[in-house]
Amino acid sequence: MVLLASTHEDIVHAANIVRCGGLVAFPTETVYGLGADASNGQAVTRIFAAKGRPADHPLIVHLSAAGELERWARDIPDAAWVLAERLWPGPLTLILKRAAGVLDAVTGGQDTIGLRVPDHPVALALLKAFGGGIAAPSANRFGRVSPTCAAHVWAELGDAVDYVIDGGSCQVGLESTILDLNGTLPRVLRPGAVTADLLACILGEPLGTRAGNHPRVSGSLASHYAPDTPLRLIEAHAIETAAQSFLIIGQSIAVLSMRQVVSHHPDCRWITMPANPREYGQLLYARLREVDTWGCRWILVEQPPALAEWEAVHDRLMRSASVRGVEGIAS
Ligand code: TXA
Ligand code: MG
Repeated sequence: MVLLASTHEDIVHAANIVRCGGLVAFPTETVYGLGADASNGQAVTRIFAAKGRPADHPLIVHLSAAGELERWARDIPDAAWVLAERLWPGPLTLILKRAAGVLDAVTGGQDTIGLRVPDHPVALALLKAFGGGIAAPSANRFGRVSPTCAAHVWAELGDAVDYVIDGGSCQVGLESTILDLNGTLPRVLRPGAVTADLLACILGEPLGTRAGNHPRVSGSLASHYAPDTPLRLIEAHAIETAAQSFLIIGQSIAVLSMRQVVSHHPDCRWITMPANPREYGQLLYARLREVDTWGCRWILVEQPPALAEWEAVHDRLMRSASVRGVEGIAS
């Protein structure tokens, strides 16, 4: 893997790599994406091989502007234009009916397609220099925590990827909100920084209930976003007692809590997380990666407040806490 800086020359070079069917990991405001020319079947196939992702899981196609929507989607509802106008570039993916000519490899054979315009200067410059749609899932191995800096991409994918553009740490840190606009009511498939409340407010209509485990949304598989160390979610009031009870039976722990350090036990490593959902979301994956290298027996995470603005964080924590190997879980 070659590391590129985010200079104009490097971005033009990266666009040429994409044009030639190569894979380029690049920063977005949410997480790093693993990009390939969305119109090149062979290039798209390489994404699945690099990630170890099942071929029927659809990819998001990244565009440089909403004006390109019609190349990729058909029967575009007014709601899509309204949201694109208000929230793009930004951390929102719209699921629309796919246009004729869109490759099956991109949509996992479905009649719909996920599209978004990322809010990151490097991603936008790459898309403009390339001049087309870039299919890009998060640049991690299937089922693992998404990368939020170039070093994470290297650690995840190594030489399975040709190039990574280093654009620093991602501002949002959690994957985009996914909104399905194909049903009678718009429906959030994956919560993110663009909240359901904001979407309902802009659209002036209620949203449908959150999707259950839609089998084709890999982010909706129960144990997606999991670190290797088993993770337990603990109610805020019980975090100290829970930490003590693991330590008493000799099990080492890492704790992610919004409190200041409450245990100085040698088998307890404590990380104080931000009490603000935006800052927490931005740091979460980097912290999970870090604690995963410590070799602790458990990661204990204090449940954040049960408030709407924490929904995306709750969602990712719940998936990280799911036990691997039960039905419906990513392999
Ligand atoms: O923030 C993001 O969305 C990042 C950055 C790189 O843009 N991308 C990302 O991609 O998270 P990925 O592939 O890791 O997750 C995209 C999710 C998957 O769960 C996929 O199944 C779902 O979007 N998806 C894509 N197309 C879909 C479709 N047509 N219908 C339903 N779900 C779809
Ligand atoms: Mg992903």
